[in-house]
Formats: sequence, C-alpha cells, structure tokens
Amino acid sequence: MTYQPPHLKDFDKPVKVLFTGYLTAVAFGYFFALVQILFTHGMADGEFGLSIDDIVYSYYGNRSGTVLETKLNGSMKDNASDHERFVIMQWDREGAKESTYESSGVKKIIENRCEMCHNENASGIPDFTEFEQLKELTVQDEGATFASLTRVSHIHLFGISFIFMFVGLIFSFSETSTVKYKCIAIGMPYTFLLVDILSWWLTKLHPSFAWLVILAGQGMAIAFIFMWAISIMEMWLFNFAFLNAKGERYTQWSILIESKLKQYGVTEACKTISCKAWSLTKHLFRFILDKWLEIGWPTLKKLFTKSS
Ligand code: HEC
Repeated sequence: MTYQPPHLKDFDKPVKVLFTGYLTAVAFGYFFALVQILFTHGMADGEFGLSIDDIVYSYYGNRSGTVLETKLNGSMKDNASDHERFVIMQWDREGAKESTYESSGVKKIIENRCEMCHNENASGIPDFTEFEQLKELTVQDEGATFASLTRVSHIHLFGISFIFMFVGLIFSFSETSTVKYKCIAIGMPYTFLLVDILSWWLTKLHPSFAWLVILAGQGMAIAFIFMWAISIMEMWLFNFAFLNAKGERYTQWSILIESKLKQYGVTEACKTISCKAWSLTKHLFRFILDKWLEIGWPTLKKLFTKSS
C-alpha cells in the first residue's frame, strides 16, 4: 500500500496553530525583507522605488563615475558650491593625481568645505586630511564586491532554503491541488532561488542580466503566496472555500484549468508546455479567422457596397 500522508484539515488543532504561527511569522518576515530591499537597493539611483537602474547600480555599479563624484552629486551636494564641486570633479576625472592636488585648488576646497567633518576625529567616514583616504574614493564605482556577493549568496541559500523547507512541507499535506501542481509549487522556489543568486553574479559581470534578478524574485513570491494561501485556507476555511452548499467538493481548480485547455484544443497527448502553447496559438488563430469571416469581412463588404 502506498503511504497516505494526513491532510491539513484533519490535523489536530495544536498542530494547526503551530503551522499557522510559523506561516504568519514568515509572511511578516517576507514583508520586512521587501521593505528592506526598497530602502537599500531602492535608493541606489537616488529615487525611491525599485527599478532596473537600482539593480544595475547595486551589483554592476554606476560606472560612469567614481564614488567621490556620485557622492558630490548625491548626499554631499550641499557642502560646496557648484563651482567648487566642478573643480573637484574635474580633478577627479583627470586622474586625481597627487601632483595636481594643490595646484588645481582642490586641496584648499577640501580643507575649507569638507575637513570640518572629514577629519581624524570623525569615526566611520573617511579622513580627508590624509590624501590616501581621499584617493581611495576616486576609483570607479563598481557596485557590489565579489567578497560581499559571496557573503550574501551563502546567507541567502542557507536561509531561504530553510524557509521554503517548512512552507513546502506544510503545503505538501494539502489535498486540493493535484500531485503535479503540488510538485511545481514546491519545487519552484528552489529553482528561482538558484536563478536569483546566479543572476546577481551575472549582473555583476554584465548589467543586462538585471531583469533576471526581478524575474527570479517574482517567481519566488508567486510560489510563496500560492502555498501560503492554500495551506491557511485548507486548515481553517476548508468548508467555506472548497465545499458547496450541499457539502460536496468543488471541482479541483487544476482539473478546471485542464478541462478549459481541452476545450481550446489542448489534448491529453499534449504534455509539454511548448505543445500546449502551440495548440493554444492555433486555436486563437482559428478563433480570429472565424470572427473575421463572420463579422469583419461582411462589415467591410457592406461599407464598400454603400460607398459605391
Ligand atoms: C557636515 C559634515 C560633512 C561635510 C561638511 C562633508 N561631509 Fe562627506 N560625509 C559626511 C557623512 C556623515 C558621510 C557618511 C554618510 C554618507 O555617505 O552620506 C559622508 C560621506 C562622504 C563620502 C562617502 C564616503 C564613503 O566611504 O563612501 C564622500 C566621498 C564624501 N563624504 C565627500 C565629501 C566632500 C568632497 C566634502 C566637501 C565638499 C564633504 N564630504 C563634506 C559628512 C560631511
């Protein structure tokens, strides 16, 4: 006999409370993770809200400028006049050489405008009384370093695998999806997690991979929301969500989808996604052709006969 796991609705109340407590806490965790992303990566291009630019600046860097220039156009903008900032940036672009530090007038501006904060007594910010510390900020802004990517990658892989281990385990006791859809929902976060991590490294190498970061994040979120909602509904709202007035089970939604697909010409024999997509496209073309012959062409004909 095959092993039949218990169903979510049949668990004892204490177990349901445990599962619900875990799912609720993890949902709040997910929410705060999104807020955190908005405040760190979201501000990278100087504007609130997450965009492709933010992701490129965070991983690939803003390579059109140095850290010093980015700051002089950002949070340090009000500390010097436009002309003074221009002089500093000019010197920076010409290679930030020590030999021209004094003659270009940059030394004087830094002493007058910056060293009241950037001095040896300041902690956490660079000390500009030492030329070396200023020089270090005139390198190209290359975004995340390999060291920081390695650190965040392993933290994410371990941490997120654990979260989806339990979300998936709880969801595996559900009964309202077919085995196939359950497998997809449980496997999806792990696939997208790997794609997500890979996409950071790829974006570090080339900015055009930034869209992959967003795609992977969305895939993970969709799987999470789906498993979360089905688990909670089966535990506490089973009769309300899955039974009709007579106490009979509604048809499984996955069966509804499959039968709808069959109606549109996708047969049982069609197993792969590309086969399904092709059948749907053919059906769509036939539908448009039918409508054209039925409505479009006669209307056009009538227009012509009227005008002639
Ligand atoms: C009122 C104090 C103050 C003055 C004046 C000031 N800074 Fe800053 N600076 C800070 C603080 C605080 C930070 C850290 C917070 C941040 O990055 O915005 C900082 C950060 C920086 C950074 C980034 C350092 C890093 O490690 O990433 C640069 C570059 C910089 N300042 C340049 C300047 C220049 C150039 C001037 C003069 C035109 C200047 N600052 C004047 C307070 C000041």
